[in-house]
Amino acid sequence: MAPEEWTIRAAGGGDVAAVLDLWRAASSLPSVTDSIVGIEHLLRHDSGALLVAESGEAIVGALIAAWDGWRGSFYRLAVDPRWRRRGVARSLVRAGEARLERHGAVRLTAIVASDEVAARSLWQSLGYTRQSKRSRFVRMLSQP
Ligand SMILES: CC(C)(COP(=O)(O)OP(=O)(O)OC[C@H]1O[C@@H](n2cnc3c(N)ncnc32)[C@H](O)[C@@H]1OP(=O)(O)O)[C@@H](O)C(=O)NCCC(=O)NCCS
Repeated sequence: MAPEEWTIRAAGGGDVAAVLDLWRAASSLPSVTDSIVGIEHLLRHDSGALLVAESGEAIVGALIAAWDGWRGSFYRLAVDPRWRRRGVARSLVRAGEARLERHGAVRLTAIVASDEVAARSLWQSLGYTRQSKRSRFVRMLSQP
C-alpha cells in the first residue's frame, strides 16, 4: 500500500480520546500516563510531541517524539492492527526523528519491552541498536 494513504501530523487536544482508543486497540503495553490528563500535560509541555498517522478521519498510528532539551525520546509507538506491515510505524518514526533533529537532538532513544518481537525488529530495522550495558531504574512518585 502506498505511503500517501496516510499522513503524519502533530496531534491536538481533539485527538486525545482517539489516541487512547488506538493504544487500547493496538494492545500496546499500558503506561501509567495513558490518560486524558497525561496526554494533555504532554501537549502543554511539548506541543507537537504527539504524532499521529491519519487515514481519512481515522487515526491509525501514534508516536510520542519528546524533546526535553537534552535528549530525544520516543514513547508509546502503536499502529492499529488492521494497518500493520504497511510502513505506518516507519513513517511515524522518521517524522519523529525529523522533529527531534529540528530541535537540536543528537541522540534518540526508545524504550522497548524485551519480549516485544515486532517492536524490537522495527527499531533495529530503522537503525537503532540495543544497549546491553544499561538498565532502566524507575520510581513511582504517585499511584495512578
Ligand atoms: C511494532 C508496531 C508499532 C509496528 O508497526 P507497523 O506499522 O506494522 O511497522 P512497519 O510496517 O512500519 O514495519 C517496519 C519494519 O519493522 C519490522 N517489523 C514490523 N512489524 C514486525 C513484525 N510483526 N515482525 C517482524 N518485523 C516487524 C520489519 O522490518 C518492517 O519492515 P518490512 O515490513 O519491510 O519487513 C506494531 O506492530 C504495534 O503497534 N505493535 C503493538 C505495540 C508495540 O509493540 N509498540 C512498540 C512499542 S516500542
